[in-house]
Amino acid sequence: MKVITVANNKGGVGKTMQCYQLASFLASKGHKVLTIDFDSQANLSSTLGVNVARTLIPEWLIGDIESKDVIVPTEGKYDFHENLFIIPSSRHLASLSKLLILSESEVRKHAGRKERLLRLRLSQLHEEFDYVVIDTPPMLGDELIMSLVASDKILIPTQAQDYSIDGLEELMDTFEIIKDTENPGLSFAIIPSMVNMRRKIERARMEELSQMFDITPAIRNLVEMQESISLKKPVFMMGKRSKSKEDYEKLWESIGIE
Ligand SMILES: Nc1ncnc2c1ncn2[C@@H]1O[C@H](COP(=O)(O)OP(=O)(O)O)[C@@H](O)[C@H]1O
Ligand SMILES: [Mg+2]
Repeated sequence: MKVITVANNKGGVGKTMQCYQLASFLASKGHKVLTIDFDSQANLSSTLGVNVARTLIPEWLIGDIESKDVIVPTEGKYDFHENLFIIPSSRHLASLSKLLILSESEVRKHAGRKERLLRLRLSQLHEEFDYVVIDTPPMLGDELIMSLVASDKILIPTQAQDYSIDGLEELMDTFEIIKDTENPGLSFAIIPSMVNMRRKIERARMEELSQMFDITPAIRNLVEMQESISLKKPVFMMGKRSKSKEDYEKLWESIGIE
């Protein structure tokens, strides 16, 4: 089982988009995929056809309920949904940090420290899933830290705009700390996201970014991508001429997704 987290402490950079495209593609290839929606805005959950009144993620993490009670099938028109499951979110997830503090003694008993809770829960699902794809909220909170501890790889969609690149430093510092302490096997990929190559400033920023990091092929800013979400039709299902399909194919090839 491979665990992939999509993260950026900035909002609106294409994290949920990345999760949706990646998870549905993997499921279409016959892998059994679990997605976890760690964002209280629950956009991934609703794109995958799942709306719950109240998420059970806190209870699951703490160990009060079992995995089978939080994992639900995704719903949609296409066959890949048969291989695609989700632990859905709702706005109640916003109080996760408070709940974890209240349950501190229980957390310590089970996991030692709260950062390890998710890894502990996922360790019981190794037989059941080939991939876990985690969507995270736009902040460096418990959800993100737990995900980094539990993951093999972190995908970081980054917009080629003014403040996004500065904000990356904070995330990369966190990545380094987790790698040095809890998870030496963790790797990352920076994905230029929603790029408009016609804008000079974006080209310049992309160039700057590529000098600082090894970056993957870019995902362009395309109306078709928004349609993919509103129609709930992943880009891998689009026609041969589709630019978004082309972008994602290049990306997946470059990071070894098949
Ligand atoms: N490559 C893209 N081209 C055009 N629109 C995009 C692209 N990626 C994401 N979007 C749109 O931008 C908005 C923010 O994307 P989203 O994935 O929700 O970001 P995040 O999860 O980082 O907040 C959404 O409306 C989404 O449909
Ligand atoms: Mg999101």
